[in-house]
Amino acid sequence: MKRVITYGTFDLFHIGHLNILKRARALGDHLTVAISTDEFNIGKHKQCVYPYSHRAQIVEAIKYVDEVIPETRWEQKIEDVKNYSIDIFVIGHDWEGKFDFLKEYCEVVYLPRTEKISTTEIKNTVQNGKSISK
Ligand code: CTP
Repeated sequence: MKRVITYGTFDLFHIGHLNILKRARALGDHLTVAISTDEFNIGKHKQCVYPYSHRAQIVEAIKYVDEVIPETRWEQKIEDVKNYSIDIFVIGHDWEGKFDFLKEYCEVVYLPRTEKISTTEIKNTVQNGKSISK
């Protein structure tokens, strides 16, 4: 059984989120998603529209996701990989190289991001009264 883990904020759930979760799950048999808590986001100066409980419940309901855990601090990744017996750590290529220190403990895969969409982009689009392109 191959266990995969990925991390993120997953605010205003969008197609880029769905794509990465689908591709992450396809790399193994079990997908754990660590979602940043509201307290952790405050430390990162990141303001979410949805609170942690909403973001976690939405991601948990996705069929590619087996388990959601809270991400409360940057340093927890090595512990998570060990505690959850993780084989593969997956993250979008916007983080390329940043998590290579985990290669000592598991495989590290950077996946290409879905183009032209992000939570930030959605916030800007809604503010301007426009639509996301297909
Ligand atoms: N992601 C992706 N494609 C996108 C947007 C996000 O593959 N278009 C991936 C990220 O690389 C990350 C995961 O989805 O591995 C969670 O990303 P998150 O930061 O929560 O989403 P963003 O839309 O990038 O949010 P923001 O604009 O606030 O940075």
